[in-house]
Amino acid sequence: MGKYEPKIIAFCCHYCAYSAADLAGSSRLQYPANVHIVRTPCTGRLEIDYYMKAFENGMDGILVAGCEEGSCHFKDGNLLAKRRVNSIRTVLAEAGIEMERLRMVNVSAAGARPLVEYIKEFVETVSNLGPIKTKETVKNTTTGAGK
Ligand code: FES
Repeated sequence: MGKYEPKIIAFCCHYCAYSAADLAGSSRLQYPANVHIVRTPCTGRLEIDYYMKAFENGMDGILVAGCEEGSCHFKDGNLLAKRRVNSIRTVLAEAGIEMERLRMVNVSAAGARPLVEYIKEFVETVSNLGPIKTKETVKNTTTGAGK
């Protein structure tokens, strides 16, 4: 059986991470094709609903890539995003979902290589976790319900 191919979304802020992703493309640095890059004006603009909807819509992992701390173009949007990510990770853990499925990283606009490395590491982590199993699906699996 082949390795699990997770569906991953990477929210990249316009000013740094998206520019780094763009640079990675023009520098021919490769990252796994199952990562969908989505540009956001700032990671601080990502409301909690965005994360939940992404998981509800079948994403196995969400990577949030913002400017380096102290460099957010909206002052402290990346710090707000960091707090949100940390609180959602706690909620995920309480729901029986591995918190490693959500990660935030910070890169500069010139950080194509670090971004690609973060993406590769994240894909590897989520591949190893496999599909999401919520407490409900685990319960259904062990009781045979939902078949
Ligand atoms: Fe990049 Fe805010 S503008 S994280």
